Amino acid sequence: MARYDTQVGIVGAGPAGLMLSHLLHLNGVHSIVLEVKTRTYCEERVRAGVLEHTSVQMLREAGVAERLDREGLRHEGIEIGLNGVRHRIPFVELTGKCVTVYGQQEIVKDLISKRLADGGDLRFECGDLALEGIATEKPRIRVNKDGDMDEISCEYIAGCDGFHGISRGAFPEGTLKIYERTYPFAWLGILVEAPPSQEELVYMHHERGFALYSMRSPNITRLYLQCTPDEDIAKWTDDRIWSELHNRLSCADGWRPTEGRIVQKGVTGMRSFVAEPLQTGRLFLAGDAAHIVPPTGAKGMNLAFADVFYLSEAMGAFYRNGDTERLESYSATCLRRIWKAQRFSWWMTSLLHRFENEPAFDRKRQLAELEYVVTSKAAATSLAENYVGLPLDGM
Ligand code: FAD
Ligand code: DHB
Repeated sequence: MARYDTQVGIVGAGPAGLMLSHLLHLNGVHSIVLEVKTRTYCEERVRAGVLEHTSVQMLREAGVAERLDREGLRHEGIEIGLNGVRHRIPFVELTGKCVTVYGQQEIVKDLISKRLADGGDLRFECGDLALEGIATEKPRIRVNKDGDMDEISCEYIAGCDGFHGISRGAFPEGTLKIYERTYPFAWLGILVEAPPSQEELVYMHHERGFALYSMRSPNITRLYLQCTPDEDIAKWTDDRIWSELHNRLSCADGWRPTEGRIVQKGVTGMRSFVAEPLQTGRLFLAGDAAHIVPPTGAKGMNLAFADVFYLSEAMGAFYRNGDTERLESYSATCLRRIWKAQRFSWWMTSLLHRFENEPAFDRKRQLAELEYVVTSKAAATSLAENYVGLPLDGM
């Protein structure tokens, strides 16, 4: 058995764990990142695509935005489609800010390469992780690495291991309160080799269900269709997917998505979930390990970045001058932002999807709300300021 010492043991090399390790490094704090999957798996997993203005600023200030600034697509607004007509929500005009389209896996690649260039300790393919002694001053992580059980002795542990990780389960029984909501639909997502046929994202409300037109680069489009939670992807041939996409997305002005080779298909579930608090003893949760939002508001990865920003600041203050105040208020600080993002994600989801068998009153109310959002400057501004990201210190 090999023993290692670190200040912060980080479980998970997703956006949260990698960014935390980098921000801690900038604060002079040592960390070891332990990840169950391979590096290639982490770098190729297609997920989020939209970065808030707030996240882009954070990545720039942390010196990891060189490729993002070169290759990221600046989006100054989005379009909301209703009855085959697209209505623009002009972010820059309404808020002075914009968002950037840049794949999550590209950020993961950038962060891994930066951590390795800075001599960071990232360990992939770790098995059987177990957290021990989290109520003590010296918590430990046990891990099976290449057949040997290693022990990492830490001062703090950060659980950045996503929704299905082990960290949340390490909280003593009865100390976590779970708030949860599920939705009666999911998203079928595809990645397509085709240049975007229009510059901005289209969030389309349609009788047959919601559809989203997005992109990743000047050559790759990303599209989603509302489907059932138990959808069998095998029943969706390429032809059926394109027919449904044209049905839902085609607009009165003749616009429709450009077809291309479908290089990836998958079904994403929908849920709203918060586990409170985000800390027990010397264990802190960040990102999807603590909360999940339905993807409609594009908030998940952005929330993960906000959590680790607050955590790195709190740990930095502790290691600089022994100040524990920010560590103690970490959970409450994050939760204020988390609940605002929960509200927004739930609202965008409820606004845009078809709810089967809903009361006629609710359907009429939903259509009135959509019309209000696309015609009222006040309503559009509220959407825009949440979508581009609330300020990190403005809560
Ligand atoms: P994860 O990315 O889940 O990373 C956790 C890591 O921990 C993984 O690498 C995992 O392998 C590892 N791990 C798990 N268990 C263990 C263990 N026991 N030991 C060690 N390691 C472990 N968000 C946005 O902001 N904008 C969007 O546009 C957006 N679109 C999305 C579209 C889709 C289809 C999906 C699925 C999600 C989308 N999201 C979006 C959400 C976003 O992808 C997540 O919120 C984000 O990945 C959270 O990062 P994380 O680091 O907290 O967790
Ligand atoms: C994408 C995903 C989202 O959830 C969203 O709201 C916008 C874009 C995307 O994957 O491109």
